[in-house]
Amino acid sequence: MSEIQQFPADFIWGVATSAFQIEGGASADGKGPSIWDTFSHTPGKIIDGGTGDVACDHYHRYAEDVALMAGLHVDAYRFSIAWSRVQPAGKGAWNEAGFAFYDRLLTELAAKNIDAHVTLYHWDLPQALQDEGGWLNRDTAKQFAEYAAEVARRFGNRVKTIATHNEPWCTANLGYGNAQFAPGVADLRQSIQVSHHLLLSHGLAMQAMRKVGSSAKLGIVLNQWTAHPATDSQADRELAAFEYSRSVEWFMDPIFKGRYPELALKAHGANAPVIHDNDFNDIRQPIDFLGCNYYFRAFCSAEVPPRAPAAALGVTDMGWEIYPQGLTELLLKLNKDYDLPPVYITENGMANRDAVVDGRVHDAQRIDFVTRHLAALQEAMHQGVKVDGYFLWSLLDNFEWNSGYAKRFGIVHVDYETQQRTLKDSALWYRGLIDAQRKA
Ligand code: FCB
Repeated sequence: MSEIQQFPADFIWGVATSAFQIEGGASADGKGPSIWDTFSHTPGKIIDGGTGDVACDHYHRYAEDVALMAGLHVDAYRFSIAWSRVQPAGKGAWNEAGFAFYDRLLTELAAKNIDAHVTLYHWDLPQALQDEGGWLNRDTAKQFAEYAAEVARRFGNRVKTIATHNEPWCTANLGYGNAQFAPGVADLRQSIQVSHHLLLSHGLAMQAMRKVGSSAKLGIVLNQWTAHPATDSQADRELAAFEYSRSVEWFMDPIFKGRYPELALKAHGANAPVIHDNDFNDIRQPIDFLGCNYYFRAFCSAEVPPRAPAAALGVTDMGWEIYPQGLTELLLKLNKDYDLPPVYITENGMANRDAVVDGRVHDAQRIDFVTRHLAALQEAMHQGVKVDGYFLWSLLDNFEWNSGYAKRFGIVHVDYETQQRTLKDSALWYRGLIDAQRKA
């Protein structure tokens, strides 16, 4: 197994969740429906038929969950705000009862000395905005900026960071490209236009939040990977280059360089997005941090059926190849290609077939996974990448989108019948790691 060495003394150790995946309280205290409420209630969309109605009931059990985190000795908690909880229709009236929930959560976190890292959009668009075209409608970007400014105004001095989006790649490609995620559209042209509006909304939100002024650092969270050709064939090499361009550079270049990457833009041809004159000026806003979510590499095969990687370290319960060295490679490449602000690994973790046996959950696979990725992260840091923290996905087993409750990513096991939380071995191990890092 890889060895983890000493991280910088001020390195942040955290855990992550998102609103729809854990909160429940789907219509509590005036919350409006989101596209994930609609989608998860549509028969056939979620593998096990799960919905977000109750999830981990975090809306009611947040104090217990914060106490759990405190018991794990984490420095920081990354969570998202459900837009339709604080603004039920996505525009117009604010829902004070919704803001009150996050106020209580922040109070509880502060009492336990846990820093808050907030994401504004983790995929749960208010359904009312979807009814007006959702992210395909440019106006949604403007509504998003208003929502962002309001959150910054109310909470900006009580949270360490605010990220505009979580993984806009997924919103565009899974929500509009292959219909796996809400709102369930499969249309390449639309997905590319949506990605542009998401980037625009990020830029407008950054400007709106800067205007408000707060102590929070502002940035964005992207899911990223390296792309490797399956063989040395020209077709595979071209596919890998296209994959990296359309997935990683597509979101990085507009933010850092004020343009789309040429390779992907050309390849998109007639599906290229409609861009207004000033859009890149709006999008290219300085960010204080970059959140990087890393789970796997892209293995690119042009053959039919495509070749699969040898997966020397196996695959997770999602079927995702375990490939820790991809994290080192990715960070070094990003650091070379862009003038990076400090980076947080805002998500990393694995789904595992976990079960409670005699009150314990023996998830040695997860401990091995996280250990290897931390060692890979450390390697990138030794080679000069500035990384300020690591957030393990996830604190709790939760609603894993179209996989429902069938996939368990938590370091804390959740029994969905009783809502009982049980620390897995990985949780105890993570606490031990954090303690050892602090002592050294
Ligand atoms: C990421 C999502 C997160 C979770 C993990 C497994 O893509 O941001 O909500 O589903 O994958």
